[in-house]
Amino acid sequence: MNRFIIEGGNRLQGELKIPGAKNAVLPILAATILNRGTSRIKNCPNLEDVKTMQGILASLGLKVEREGRDIIVYGKTLTANTVPEHLASRMRSSIVLMGAILGRIGEIYISYPGGCAIGPRPIDMHLSSLRKMGAEIDDLYNGILHCKINKFQGTEILLDYPSVGATENIMLAACLAEGETIVRNAAKEPEIVDLQNFLQNLGVEIYGAGTGVIRIIGCNEIEKDITYSVIPDRIVAGTYMACVAATGGEIILNDIDYEPVSSIAYLLRNCGVFIELIDSKNMKIKSEKNLKAIEVIRTSPYPGFPTDMQPQLVSVLSKASGTSVVIETVFENRYGYVEQLMRMGTDITVRERVAVIKGVKRLTGAYLDASDLRGGAALTIAALSAEGISTINNVMHIDRGYEELEKSLSTVGAKIKRI
Ligand code: EPZ
Repeated sequence: MNRFIIEGGNRLQGELKIPGAKNAVLPILAATILNRGTSRIKNCPNLEDVKTMQGILASLGLKVEREGRDIIVYGKTLTANTVPEHLASRMRSSIVLMGAILGRIGEIYISYPGGCAIGPRPIDMHLSSLRKMGAEIDDLYNGILHCKINKFQGTEILLDYPSVGATENIMLAACLAEGETIVRNAAKEPEIVDLQNFLQNLGVEIYGAGTGVIRIIGCNEIEKDITYSVIPDRIVAGTYMACVAATGGEIILNDIDYEPVSSIAYLLRNCGVFIELIDSKNMKIKSEKNLKAIEVIRTSPYPGFPTDMQPQLVSVLSKASGTSVVIETVFENRYGYVEQLMRMGTDITVRERVAVIKGVKRLTGAYLDASDLRGGAALTIAALSAEGISTINNVMHIDRGYEELEKSLSTVGAKIKRI
């Protein structure tokens, strides 16, 4: 088991580069299944979830290679229709393979997806949408789904909620469908726009991502050699911003895209953090640690404040003067990490989806367990700003979304090592 040992209390100073976005690269890799040509995806982070997706593509018979930050998928041969259970159950994104594999070969055996322990994560919208497009889906045994279709039929789908994954699944299914598919109340996240851009590069007629209504005109076959670069990871950028806010210091983030992080910047500015856009790709963050509480903030789908930054924000607010209220509206149970923060001296009360955070003057180092990706990031932030030494166990959860986090943070002055 890998763990982080962190000596808190060091200001951060220097520059950090933002890598490609995990939640963009995963659906784009799933989309390469639709292409009989060669897809070269640039700016791919080297993360556990990305390796799992590469493993799944290879197990389907596709040739997959990594060259530095590029992943190349040769789409000619797709020989299998079964997603290995031990890979599918490792991450939530495996569910978006359904639309792509069914579109291309008409049959798939896949288990229910895994992912972070942040409450029940049903897939009802995925299944009902694919059924509406004509798929027959049966629950076999031990959580294995068998899905079949001759050819998807374009149709109109109104989502009950703008689910990111369900929107992606429908977009992928619609590419090789008969006729036009319209998704209403679609998710508007930047990763959805990135997937649309990738599909447009493949020649697919798809429009509207980012607006809430997406239209896709199906085609018979996709065969194109393309190169595509993935957008920067807005949550990694936000996490670094939260690190500086909590520890104090001054860093410059390189290779960012401001619009997707603007809600995070807005909140941190309200807490008293100085954030300045140097130019379209570089941003300065400066904090003197004397942070102020935020009255109330709710997480919500994009362009609202992202649920994937909620734990990191709570960590920052735990030392802000005054009382802050955070309301988690996206996931049912995303406060698992709070119990661990309490070991460091925070004053946080959680009742269902509401966390009340009373800022304390100091946190002290503690022995901690990470139980999910963003919760693990929140513990890292708290440990960096605490007095004394902290140990964070189970950093494999953190490794799912942050590439060698300890190395990046060490380059800007944090005292953090992996053992
Ligand atoms: C994506 O998950 C992200 N994962 C999550 O990032 C992110 O937290 C989430 O979107 C919201 O932004 C990836 O992109 C791989 P949803 P996804 O479908 O697609 C409910 C991280 O830390 N729902 O928008 O699974 C669901 O339970 C991760 O990087 C249904 O009820 O999110 C949740 O309450 C964690 N039925 C809400 O919708 C469904 O069929 C939003 O989920 C689908 C979803």
